[in-house]
Amino acid sequence: MKILVVCLGNICRSPLGEGILKSKLPENFVVDSVGTISMHEGKKPDERSIEIAKNHGIDISNQRSRPITKADLENFDHIYCMDLSVYEDVISMAKNEEQRKKISLFLEAAGNNGENNEVPDPYWGNLADFENVYQMIDEASSKIAQKLVN
Ligand code: 4NP
Repeated sequence: MKILVVCLGNICRSPLGEGILKSKLPENFVVDSVGTISMHEGKKPDERSIEIAKNHGIDISNQRSRPITKADLENFDHIYCMDLSVYEDVISMAKNEEQRKKISLFLEAAGNNGENNEVPDPYWGNLADFENVYQMIDEASSKIAQKLVN
């Protein structure tokens, strides 16, 4: 099973999603993350994401940002998007219904069906915003892992 987590820059939210989901899934799951923009390609995650993850015992410092490709929509089984604008960009890349069916919001995949299904972009915020995002992703990842494994 191959899981792809997507945000805008692939330096704040989706690296956390990748690291946290990996920590909760068996070894035979492949988990990767990408961004919809290539601006940060080759860069490590944002220092604040690295620090917050480290505080929770997860090392994401070896990850490097890369932009999503059309091949990703073919190769991955589930594609989880951090917010609606990312979701719309990824959906617009899908070439058929089979690919569209793989794509969902990260929080919806976790079973949230309230009005707020977006993980907010913490890039312009402070460490508390990153901690908040960490908690949202951690809680959702537990639910996603439970669904995928059972
Ligand atoms: P991310 O956060 O999508 O969670 O990685 C952002 C990273 C970079 C920018 C915006 C959001 N940016 O504008 O460069």
